[in-house]
Amino acid sequence: SAFWGSTPRGLRFDAVEPNKEDAVTIPDGYEQQVVIRWGDPILDGVNEFDPTAQTPEDAVGQFGYNCDFLALLDLPGQRRHKVLVANHEYTSEEMMHYGYDSAAPTRDQVEIGWASHGLSVVVLKEDGNSGDLTPVVGHDLNRRITATSEFVLSGPAAGSDLLKTTADAEGALALGTLNNCAGGVTPWGTILSGEENFNQYFANAGLVTDATAKARLARYGLTGEASERKWEQYDPRFDVLQEPNEPNRFGWIVELDPYDPDWTPRKRTALGRFKHEGAGPRVDRYGRVVVYMGDDERFDYMYKFVSKNKMKTGTSRSVREHNRTLLDEGTLYVAKFTGDSPAAEIDGTGALPADGAFDGGGEWIKLASGDESFVDGMTAEEVYVFTRLAGDKVGATKMDRPEDVEVNPKSGKVYAALTNNSQRGATGKAAADEANPRSANKHGHVLELAEKNGDVTATTFGWILLLVCGDPEDPGTYFSGYPKDQVSPISCPDNVAFDPQGNLWISTDGNALGNNDGLFGVSLTGSTRGLTKQFLTVPIGAETCGPVVQDRHVLVAVQHPGEIDGASAETPASQWPDGPNGTLPRPSVVNVVKDGFGTIGC
Ligand code: FEO
Ligand code: CA
Ligand code: CA
Ligand code: CA
Repeated sequence: SAFWGSTPRGLRFDAVEPNKEDAVTIPDGYEQQVVIRWGDPILDGVNEFDPTAQTPEDAVGQFGYNCDFLALLDLPGQRRHKVLVANHEYTSEEMMHYGYDSAAPTRDQVEIGWASHGLSVVVLKEDGNSGDLTPVVGHDLNRRITATSEFVLSGPAAGSDLLKTTADAEGALALGTLNNCAGGVTPWGTILSGEENFNQYFANAGLVTDATAKARLARYGLTGEASERKWEQYDPRFDVLQEPNEPNRFGWIVELDPYDPDWTPRKRTALGRFKHEGAGPRVDRYGRVVVYMGDDERFDYMYKFVSKNKMKTGTSRSVREHNRTLLDEGTLYVAKFTGDSPAAEIDGTGALPADGAFDGGGEWIKLASGDESFVDGMTAEEVYVFTRLAGDKVGATKMDRPEDVEVNPKSGKVYAALTNNSQRGATGKAAADEANPRSANKHGHVLELAEKNGDVTATTFGWILLLVCGDPEDPGTYFSGYPKDQVSPISCPDNVAFDPQGNLWISTDGNALGNNDGLFGVSLTGSTRGLTKQFLTVPIGAETCGPVVQDRHVLVAVQHPGEIDGASAETPASQWPDGPNGTLPRPSVVNVVKDGFGTIGC
């Protein structure tokens, strides 16, 4: 076997070279398997996928489109079985249907779109020799959550006038979840999922005349007339002129219990409303719960929620029910970052300041707790429903598109992917600062945050940039001082995860270096801190999502293969995964194992 020197366990593999292949490429000595594809049945009584004969009835029992966040959970009591939970962020109708007319979609096409959003829960059987994971079609736990499934509106903004609609005069029950991007697994075994770019589903915000309503809509990116998918043609709730509060019922963190199909999933209003990328929960040794969150927009904010009550341990029904209330009561904070170097030393190029690090301190600014608002001129309900406006008022730090924010379970430190920001430093926009140090930031950076004394309830923290991404030959990049001739190029970090050894794993979306996106392992400690190695690449047009890195499995979601500018079902840029006879590219989950089903990276 190779001599790995000081390379930490978990990262002992031969890095793959950047490439533009229409394939998932993996290190020598590893094997890959497609676990499940868009259209594969997960419920009984559903037809196999046929791209020319899709129906809403089949779609609602099949794996949805554009898989993003993934969780791979144990299934107690069923040996060699696991529970996969996947987000289905959005649909690309022109890539899904031959002859699609974007001005006049059919009802079936729209309903297939509704059914192909949301989440999938599907039980997998693991082959103990090969490590292959195979869906168990029709398992009791399998379910689809879609754009029309019921969600209880929960927490302090539930019942608010701001959430009431014609169909729901109580502001208590929302239909559907949309644009579910990243997510997290809670220590009590539920799934959190972020509703991100929900603005794109709503029509006619640009025609609203009331100035307050218009400004609130615009702050969330609702400005236009007809929506991209024209759902308003088939359901008036997607028309803001007809249902002005319907958009307020999206943009939340949702909580789902994969082990309890009878429990209606919740929209957790205590965690605020914005373009939620995901949610990174942590419980401390006292049982206190924190959830870290990013709002993925240029110049938007990072947040945390601290629960009022403590998590209980145990497996009884009452413990589970208690823990499923934790995210309804607590305090919502937004982050303010302060650099420790003189502003004049941050020149926008990525050149390090004189103290040798982009680093400093920060403050969690309290926004609301229960019914109490800490923001001048806003009620608590307004803070929860229009959280971006609250962040604006308190002077939170405008970040370079905060994507995934997750906690390293080994250290308790928090890692945020700041994916890029083409407008940093542009005329009329925020200039480079120490936490966002490059103008026109093309390749993004990764920030490490440590709460004061490691306390999840702390209101101050320290931070340092771990990576300033890009081509290591570009002087404006930084890999924590690790020799740059020994790292893989990395661009546009999006999702983050951790392996059992505590190494960071980063998946990318939109590689601005010209090669395909991929998955990277990064050492965080000791003399190898900053060592960055590419573990896989994804096919043409795809982003890499949902990484799960366990002892013996690496799972990634290959989202939107073949989707490049101008591509359509007739002219996809990829034939992955089914090949030339498969007709359409299909977003899918891939399982990578070491030969002989050994330990990953060891
Ligand atoms: Fe859906 Fe921010 O990525
Ligand atoms: Ca500094
Ligand atoms: Ca993402
Ligand atoms: Ca992204």
